[in-house]
Amino acid sequence: MRVAILISGRGSNMAALLHAAAVPGYPATIALVLSNRADAAGLAVAQAAGVPTAVVESRAFKSDRDGFERAMEAEFAHHGIELVALAGFMRVLTEGFVERWRDRLVNIHPSLLPSFKGLDTHARALAAGVKLHGCTVHLVRHGVDDGPILAQAAVPVLPGDDEAALAARVLEQEHLLYPAALAWLAAGQVRMQGELAVVTAPGAQGVLANPLPAPAPLPTTDAWRVSG
Ligand code: GRF
Repeated sequence: MRVAILISGRGSNMAALLHAAAVPGYPATIALVLSNRADAAGLAVAQAAGVPTAVVESRAFKSDRDGFERAMEAEFAHHGIELVALAGFMRVLTEGFVERWRDRLVNIHPSLLPSFKGLDTHARALAAGVKLHGCTVHLVRHGVDDGPILAQAAVPVLPGDDEAALAARVLEQEHLLYPAALAWLAAGQVRMQGELAVVTAPGAQGVLANPLPAPAPLPTTDAWRVSG
């Protein structure tokens, strides 16, 4: 499967995918890294890895989103792209584009969807006091951060966490989860059941179990007993 990765910034998930795809037997070839910004740091990383890159400046298209997407698709056609992976791509795609790439367009989002769609997920998770947070790889549908879930990884929210600490803990899992989920998709190991994505890869449940810190031993039954 020939994959295009779409980025807007630093591209650490892109780098994780490039790394994975360099391993013999990985079922996807990263055939293009495309950015909507010429100053995306990830472009240099892709170039250093010898992967073809392209820039389609979204700014140049102002409000012509369809024109922007058609320009991207011209690059996809040029590079024989069959699957598109969004990795920190900061543009909302039109319904037309999403439909043309239905079930061939995948995204990673830094939360356990459907919680915390949109931006600033880590700050919002801290503000909500959730005890588990994480990341999700999903097929893209028209709604923002919406679509069938392929895979999730959870991390604990620990006492004293700030946004940066939590983001780093989640990002570590993103870099493991995205290559795994993309491999399942590229290898044809995802079956759609209506709007549910079922991973059929042997041994895979669509979850990367993240080792949580060992829980404190539960109090004995006696400790719960109300005296008197
Ligand atoms: C990641 O947290 C990803 O989940 C989100 O945007 C961020 C991109 O980071 N969609 P990077 O460019 O992959 O380092």
